[in-house]
Amino acid sequence: MTPAAWDGDDYQSRFDALAEAGTDVHGEATFVRSFSPASVLDAGCGTGRLAIELARHGIEVVGADVDASMLATARRQAPELTWVQADLAELDLGRSFSVVVMAGNVPLFTPPGTQAALVTGVARHVAPGGLLVAGFSLHRGYALGDYDAHAAATGLVLVERHATWDRAPCVDGGDYAVSVHRRAPATAGE
Ligand SMILES: C[S@@+](CC[C@H](N)C(=O)[O-])C[C@H]1O[C@@H](n2cnc3c(N)ncnc32)[C@H](O)[C@@H]1O
Repeated sequence: MTPAAWDGDDYQSRFDALAEAGTDVHGEATFVRSFSPASVLDAGCGTGRLAIELARHGIEVVGADVDASMLATARRQAPELTWVQADLAELDLGRSFSVVVMAGNVPLFTPPGTQAALVTGVARHVAPGGLLVAGFSLHRGYALGDYDAHAAATGLVLVERHATWDRAPCVDGGDYAVSVHRRAPATAGE
């Protein structure tokens, strides 16, 4: 099933307007950079907001998204970066990354019922010792407990959870969560 179509230029223009008004539109990238990753898969990259900012800081990035319009805007903004058009549920790049990040409610925009496959698809790209980072709104059809279960089924363990990208503490009944799951490091002989 194909997720809803987007207008990449329209989506990007909203962030451009925020940036011009002085709003920091790179909170997610700052959060990811705090882990000092060598490589990042921006999963559900949209117009490349995170990937482009991370690349600007010298991090090797790949952006993947199913939406052609979003990717066209990303490619126009940063033709030198690698952009992959694919359903994350079926993605297999044949490599892994220090961090895989899903910013901007990605699991809420995958077709209903495909969240487990989505998490499996992105988790297969998390390197041993690497992280899966995801921020999405709560009470909108995908529960944190389900996300944790889907992540656990791929061998990932929850290591951090915050209410915001600048690490505000979670509160009961909060409406947003940023979750960090880790894959165990490889042991000798693996
Ligand atoms: C709200 S946008 C967020 C874009 C970007 N991560 C950001 O924060 O600006 C959600 C994105 O998730 C992508 N997406 C949702 N489900 C997907 C799937 N199963 N495979 C690939 N991309 C998906 C959509 O195409 C869309 O570009």
